[in-house]
Amino acid sequence: MDQFVIKGQKKLSGDLTVSGSKNATLPLLAASLLCKGKTILRNVPDLKDIHTMLNVIKGLGVEYSYNKGLLEINTQHLTTFNAPYELVKTMRASIYVLGPLLAREGKAEVSLPGGCAIGPRPVNLHIETMEKLGAKIKVEDGFIKARANKLKGTQIFFSTVSVGATANLLMAAALAEGETIIKNAALEPEIGELITFLNSMGADIKGINTDTLTITGVNKLNPIDYTVVPDRIEAGTLLIAGIITKSPITIKNINPEHISALLKVVEEMGVILSITGNNIQIKKVGKLSPVYIKTIPYPGFPTDLHPILATLLTTVPGISVINETIFENRFAYIPELIRMGAQIEVDDHIVIIKGTKSLIGADVMASDLRGGAALTLAGLAANKETIVHRIYHIDRGYENLETKLGKAGANIKRIKGQNI
Ligand code: EPZ
Repeated sequence: MDQFVIKGQKKLSGDLTVSGSKNATLPLLAASLLCKGKTILRNVPDLKDIHTMLNVIKGLGVEYSYNKGLLEINTQHLTTFNAPYELVKTMRASIYVLGPLLAREGKAEVSLPGGCAIGPRPVNLHIETMEKLGAKIKVEDGFIKARANKLKGTQIFFSTVSVGATANLLMAAALAEGETIIKNAALEPEIGELITFLNSMGADIKGINTDTLTITGVNKLNPIDYTVVPDRIEAGTLLIAGIITKSPITIKNINPEHISALLKVVEEMGVILSITGNNIQIKKVGKLSPVYIKTIPYPGFPTDLHPILATLLTTVPGISVINETIFENRFAYIPELIRMGAQIEVDDHIVIIKGTKSLIGADVMASDLRGGAALTLAGLAANKETIVHRIYHIDRGYENLETKLGKAGANIKRIKGQNI
């Protein structure tokens, strides 16, 4: 398995450009199943999770070609309606095909995803909403087996804000009979992108960027040519890489609105930023102050940036607190940071950090995508050498992370591991 070898405490400089959004691309790949023909997606990041999703839709009969960010998907013919365990277990967003397959074909068999490193990741909301649209669903043999003659619009209130379940419901309702009203819909930018994409295909969805969405079903959707937005979580990760190394870098190609909660937190800590258009420059990183944050659905502070901000906070003198309210097990990065000299502990879902002057390089192990990114940033800030093991977790969601950081001046190398 590959490793990152990092010699820390190097200053970064110059510009780091954000790639296309993983979490915006994944639902768009599923939404392309709602039409017959050739969909073009541009600025698609070259990530393991994207290739997993492409394998899921290829298994349904979709043909595609991918080259340097340009993806052509032909969904003219589907041959099966089954998303198999071996793919779904590696990437739970595979469940996004449930809604489109039910809407287009009236049947779907999707493996239950099982849990993952950050928690049990239930899919009850996905199942319940499809049933409310009239689907008959059995969960047996580890599969969600769904059938529907014609989905029918209805009113649905989400007791828990769910990005994935909002996306699945939007895609199913787009071709359902009649009107669907979604209340307490997720507000993440990826949902806004999906609504824009579906409306460009011919859907009738009102209420974008609000928590109440009204979908009037249509008979047919058409393939389109669409460019994926930049990845807000990668942008936040690169920004914190600059802050933790006290470097005057510029993050290019990101809508600042999409990471407004993070920008507010780091400015509250004392970081001076200069924001012009879609570029965010770090002007000054002086003596920073500790903070208290709570992870909540957008536009609140995103759970995906919790491990990455926590790493920065371990180098900020004082007591900081992160209250993780979304995922049960976002904490695997903590014992690894402790190996690097961080004073950090978790009590239930509250992370308490006593900032130290600096981290010490060590061997550490990534256990999940965002935790792996956090350990990489810890290595940038630590003295001596840090080796981050199991970086396949990082390759799921960051395109060429070591190349981007290396070009900006970091001493970071990918060491190919033997595939044991
Ligand atoms: C999306 O996951 C993202 N993944 C996650 O990013 C992100 O952390 C999460 O939203 C929250 O922002 C993609 O977009 C592919 P949820 P999703 O449904 O849709 C509970 C990354 O690192 N829930 O909004 O799975 C759930 O357990 C990934 O890129 C149910 O109870 O998240 C959680 O507590 C990690 N039942 C809460 O809702 C359900 O049926 C929010 O989860 C579904 C969710």
